[in-house]
Amino acid sequence: MARIAIVTGGTRGIGEAISLALQAEGATVIANYAGNEAKARDFSERTGIATSRFDVSDPDAVQAAVDQIVESHGEVDIVVNNAGITRDGTLLKMSYEDWKAVIDTNLGGCFNLAKATFSGMRNRGWGRIVNIGSINGQAGQYGQVNYAAAKSGIHGFTKALAQEGAKFGVTVNAIAPGYIDTDMVAAVPADVLGKIVAKIPVGRLGQAEEIARGVAFLCSERAGFVTGSTLSINGGQHMY
Ligand code: CAA
Repeated sequence: MARIAIVTGGTRGIGEAISLALQAEGATVIANYAGNEAKARDFSERTGIATSRFDVSDPDAVQAAVDQIVESHGEVDIVVNNAGITRDGTLLKMSYEDWKAVIDTNLGGCFNLAKATFSGMRNRGWGRIVNIGSINGQAGQYGQVNYAAAKSGIHGFTKALAQEGAKFGVTVNAIAPGYIDTDMVAAVPADVLGKIVAKIPVGRLGQAEEIARGVAFLCSERAGFVTGSTLSINGGQHMY
């Protein structure tokens, strides 16, 4: 039986690469998206991967979507919490709304998806949760108190939930990507990004597939003894 996997933010950027990598490993993937219908339709047509539109920051919407996924595809074995947004700005310019949106989506989304799937994984004695953190949650980043707090929270969330899942065969791990060549990073002003890339020892941005390969490993049978860990994939930019 193919494993059933939900990838949040799974139709674009790093999430798209993760959806494809898990599909290549034989999983039945359901790729979540928040609002970009055209992109999601194109993704589904190209890949044959089913999509599900819901807002990860809304607990009721997440529960309803998971119920529907279970009904259509079967019990959920793998969750990749990848959905994330930025609302960059220095603290003095950042609104409460920009703080809250990033915390609710990036960190709240992890809670909501885990809450809706964890008991099923525990009961069946197998599960994989991979949370996409960030180098900026490990090291901080000027202009990102919201994003850095949410991503740092993801790393703590991962280590706590890993302890709750361990004896039930449910592993919980995080990946901390560095700067990856996606729309999110392309939105950083060019001069700022140039300075960041100059500090990456490998000398370039990462590719989404380089994150996806790490996720595929953490979701595999072979990774059963890996839990509560953070895999940094950042070209050597931050060695943590
Ligand atoms: N450290 C110290 N000072 C800095 C700084 C830094 N890293 N960056 C900027 N400053 C200083 C500037 O030199 C400037 O100083 P002066 O006023 O003395 O000249 C001051 O801060 C204001 O800088 P800006 O003009 O850039 O301020 P702004 O309000 O227009 O923009 C910003 C601020 C929105 C944060 C902008 O700098 C920015 O977009 N930075 C990039 C943030 C970033 O890396 N985001 C990552 C997005 S991708 C992602 O998050 C994915 C992932 O996981 C890696």
